[in-house]
Amino acid sequence: MKGRGWAALAAMACAMTGIAPVAAQGWRHVGAVERVEPRADGVIVASGPAQLRVTAVGEGVFRVTLAPDGRFDPLPSWAVVAAAAPASVAVADTADAVTVTAGDAVAIVRKRPLRVEFADRAGHVLLSDSQQMPMAWSDSPHGPRVRSWKTMPADEHYYGLGDKAGPLDRRGRAFTLWNSDAYGWQGSSDPLYKSIPFFIGLRAGTAYGVFFDNTARSSFDFGKESEDYFSFGAEGGALDYYFIAGPQPARVLQRYTALTGRTPLPPMWALGFQQSRYSYNPESKVREVAAQLREHRIPADAIYLDIDYQQGYAPFTVDRKQFPHFEQMIADLRAQGLRTVLITDLHIKHAPGTGYAPFDSGLAADAFIRNPDGSLYIGPVWPGDAVFPDFTLSRVRDWWGGLYRDFTAMGAAGYWNDMNEPSVFNVPGNTMSPDAVHRLDDGSQRDHRAIHNVYGMLNARATYEGLLKLQPEQRPFVLTRAAYAGTQRYAATWTGDNSATWHHLAQSTPNLLSLGLSGMALAGDDVGGFIGSPPPDLLTRWYQLGAFNPVFRNHAATDTRPHEAWVDGPQHEALRREAIELRYRLMPYLYTVAEENSRSGLPIMRPVFLQYPQAEAFYGNDRDFLFGPDLFVAPVCDGRLDAQQIVLPPGEWFEFGTSRRQVAQKDPIRLDPRPSGVPLYARAGAIVPMQAVVQHTGEKPAGPLQLQVYLPKAGGECSGSLYQDDGESQAYKTGKLLRVAYGCEVSKRGVVLTSRIEQDGFAPWWGDVEVTVYGVARKPSALRRDGQSIADWSYDPQMQLVVIRMEQARRGWKVVLNL
Ligand code: GLC
Repeated sequence: MKGRGWAALAAMACAMTGIAPVAAQGWRHVGAVERVEPRADGVIVASGPAQLRVTAVGEGVFRVTLAPDGRFDPLPSWAVVAAAAPASVAVADTADAVTVTAGDAVAIVRKRPLRVEFADRAGHVLLSDSQQMPMAWSDSPHGPRVRSWKTMPADEHYYGLGDKAGPLDRRGRAFTLWNSDAYGWQGSSDPLYKSIPFFIGLRAGTAYGVFFDNTARSSFDFGKESEDYFSFGAEGGALDYYFIAGPQPARVLQRYTALTGRTPLPPMWALGFQQSRYSYNPESKVREVAAQLREHRIPADAIYLDIDYQQGYAPFTVDRKQFPHFEQMIADLRAQGLRTVLITDLHIKHAPGTGYAPFDSGLAADAFIRNPDGSLYIGPVWPGDAVFPDFTLSRVRDWWGGLYRDFTAMGAAGYWNDMNEPSVFNVPGNTMSPDAVHRLDDGSQRDHRAIHNVYGMLNARATYEGLLKLQPEQRPFVLTRAAYAGTQRYAATWTGDNSATWHHLAQSTPNLLSLGLSGMALAGDDVGGFIGSPPPDLLTRWYQLGAFNPVFRNHAATDTRPHEAWVDGPQHEALRREAIELRYRLMPYLYTVAEENSRSGLPIMRPVFLQYPQAEAFYGNDRDFLFGPDLFVAPVCDGRLDAQQIVLPPGEWFEFGTSRRQVAQKDPIRLDPRPSGVPLYARAGAIVPMQAVVQHTGEKPAGPLQLQVYLPKAGGECSGSLYQDDGESQAYKTGKLLRVAYGCEVSKRGVVLTSRIEQDGFAPWWGDVEVTVYGVARKPSALRRDGQSIADWSYDPQMQLVVIRMEQARRGWKVVLNL
């Protein structure tokens, strides 16, 4: 019986005999509701010893918690930052069901048997417990487990869970969430480094989300076991999940990131190109790479130092033999516009009696994780035997944060928390013993099994919070490998040890899109592939795609050939430079999108369906994506140079930087052979802010702010925005920022372009503006700015564009083009 698992069989057998499906694998399913206890924010129902709590924790957001023995775990969530009952919650108890209404969604708790459903106000069911298999727990003989089974509509698609391998749509596959050092992972590897137990269900344009807040080993089965249901559960912890109504996928994501927090605005340099390698050492090599970046005019903002700058791989040390002028080197790089990012792994070398301060101070502070017998938990990692901070304790997070004092004083700008699954060498499972003991602030203890998936996030949190304390005026930059839901509040991430293959280049997009859909917008992969040596064409294509990734970092393992932009001769170098330069030219747009992300949770890299939920042609598209709201990227991810087929998102699109319009249609566009560049399109109606190329984000761009306006057809409107601030401090929080809204209206008679200053607390680098209007079919008869005729403009009939140059344009204006 294809597609039917043991649980379905058991359930069918039970349904025939009328007995609750209990026996198989020790599951105990909930039965009928016996008692109802309405509350202001929802309801608690009882079925035998079990209790189920369903409460509204936001407009359209419900929390469901099962307590098999009637006792709810009081441990607060590590992930959730804001869950409060909305202003009005309505609870109604009828003979068959209790309904809880909050905003635009309703939770329905059916009584016989106990089943939970979620619907919109019109009564359309969005998610419901499986008829045959109500939620269940098991305490023997297979160990503690909890699980929920949901009816699976044939046309529903599932997205999320962080950076899983394989296609973006998770339907038909099953996944484990258990943070793992997955060196050399491939298309079918699972689990990987992160555990983000959140997904979006999308069906015919309507979306909802589920966040299963459980930090033990978890699993999601999206119809691998059966085509009738999907399920999620964990080997420990509680069945504790949130239902998040849409109906748009973007709304789900906004609500999910309201619940678990959003990515703070990053320093602008972190959006520049970052050069890394395992490892650049000694000091002279680092200086040489910096000099080469500048000589070759490869714009870049950061250089990473991997583990070899340390003494015997001991975190928070510097090997002075190799780096005799470490502080001076950091200062010299900074003078060249390059920030230094230091790896600071969490494993502290076990070095009693050697004067190694992080070990001594940690031991004195009782900061390290212990075994059940009270001895230190010791495991080998890069430095040899190591101990592991107990990040579940806030006092230990404070201690850890203090370890950054010297490095911040030396001028390092960012920190890289690697190996924090945690990775432990030469032990079963490659991680900490499941019995190791974590202590919590309330004095209770949990074993590592229960904490494992959130451990890396707490490492990133300790780093982020420590940096904020040390440098309260700076925006911290932390890069983490492991993550749990909510990690976006503290760190950017990357997809770990990928490989230098075309397959991995193609995998990069679904991974990064999925991270964005899982709340983690600031994500990238190792450009060029970590493991192995990419042939020149592959490396060039990777630079071209990486330029549109939120984090754009070139990185490679020790035994690989060099990956820097210039290593394959002038032709490849020129193509790679062009890709990086385009990124820097787009920096005003990218920074504006990153700021939007910090407020809305909408990612920087977006699957097309996030903005066009009805566009089902994109539900299974793993290659193409939106870069912010207005640019559509169709990267070349294979070695062929023959025509590429591209389906455009709904509406009208321009080939970027041209007046060539394309209307989205069912049939793909076939592109001519394209050895160079990335097929890039701008939405008709977009206004994209840009600048001249710079070598790093700290350099003042020459010339004016550039606005690219892609005109819609007559009757249409356009819009764009610009956000700017000093790029690195916290001053924006007190209003030191510039926010401009741009618009246009197109009629048969002409075009009206407007600039409206929404917030004027920061003076940007530009005063003049150059507007390029694409898609102007004939020469305008007159151009006026605020009623005065404009002197400096030109029309290019071939390119069908108008270029307008305006001085002192850093204020509101209205430009009229008469056609
Ligand atoms: C891990 C990281 C990799 C790093 C290496 C050495 O493999 O994933 O990025 O270069 O460790 O620190």
